[in-house]
Amino acid sequence: MPRMDTVFLNGKYLPKGDAYVSVEDRGFLFGDAVYEVIPIYAGVPFRLEAHKRRLAHSLDSLRIDFDPEEVGPMLGQLVERNGLADVPTSMVYLQVTRGVAPRSHHFPPDGTRPTVFAFAAPFRRPEGSVWDQGFGAITTPDRRWARVDLKTVQLLPNVLAQEAAREAGASDAILVRDGIALEAGHSNLWVVFGRTVRTHPTSHQILSGITRELVLELARGCGYEVEERATPVEALRTASEVFVTGSLTEIRPIVRIDGHPVGEGKVGPVSRDLYRAFLDAVSPERGVRAHATA
Ligand SMILES: Cc1ncc(COP(=O)(O)O)c(C=O)c1O
Repeated sequence: MPRMDTVFLNGKYLPKGDAYVSVEDRGFLFGDAVYEVIPIYAGVPFRLEAHKRRLAHSLDSLRIDFDPEEVGPMLGQLVERNGLADVPTSMVYLQVTRGVAPRSHHFPPDGTRPTVFAFAAPFRRPEGSVWDQGFGAITTPDRRWARVDLKTVQLLPNVLAQEAAREAGASDAILVRDGIALEAGHSNLWVVFGRTVRTHPTSHQILSGITRELVLELARGCGYEVEERATPVEALRTASEVFVTGSLTEIRPIVRIDGHPVGEGKVGPVSRDLYRAFLDAVSPERGVRAHATA
């Protein structure tokens, strides 16, 4: 009988309650760690190669020694051991820290092994009726560091921004730096003007979302004009539609920003069109196997 709480820690599969990390772990002391969240559709990882490439980028840039090729087999085991093979939407969270060593701002001694932790869990897509209502967002200053293209666990600014959104009755915080609406607290930002679909270009100032890549492809495939270009925050007021994308967020239409309606204040045709294409791409019957190795 698969357990729903089997996690991976440093080469072992354990019940979550038996998995412990040292108080000297650098992830705990310094946030010295990177992570990935990989969506799993009916047991099949989505765009695994792209997640491995991004993980390699984070690891290599920070000189953390872990081989992303270990991720595939680990995912398979976690899905199986947690009984997720038939669950429509689930995910694996993977975190790699620089390991355990006496606290020092320098890197730990050679030979210190990284701590590798992963868990799997179902995630829930909003009901169609909820999605149809659209979601609210706030704008807030981007207080993150200068390399958010690296997927580190240092998410305190994101946590504070998303909490501010929640307290304002909204679902997402749009992060603004130097007058530019960059992305959201845990998703990429998209702004639609008529038939033009725009998102911020990849840079050190946004996380290069795997869902972002997919939506770029889908938007082109649906015949929209696609722009990778910065959006001044004021332009959100003149957009016909806004939506955000992420591995667990999928595509979420934003119909209110800071209390003002976006476009007509309801979910627009472009968001609907792209969501349909997205659901097709991740459907177990059609898309997901084709994307599994992308
Ligand atoms: C800040 C930020 N931007 C964008 C994304 C979307 O990335 P992906 O589509 O790979 O999940 C995330 C996802 O966690 C995020 O945290």
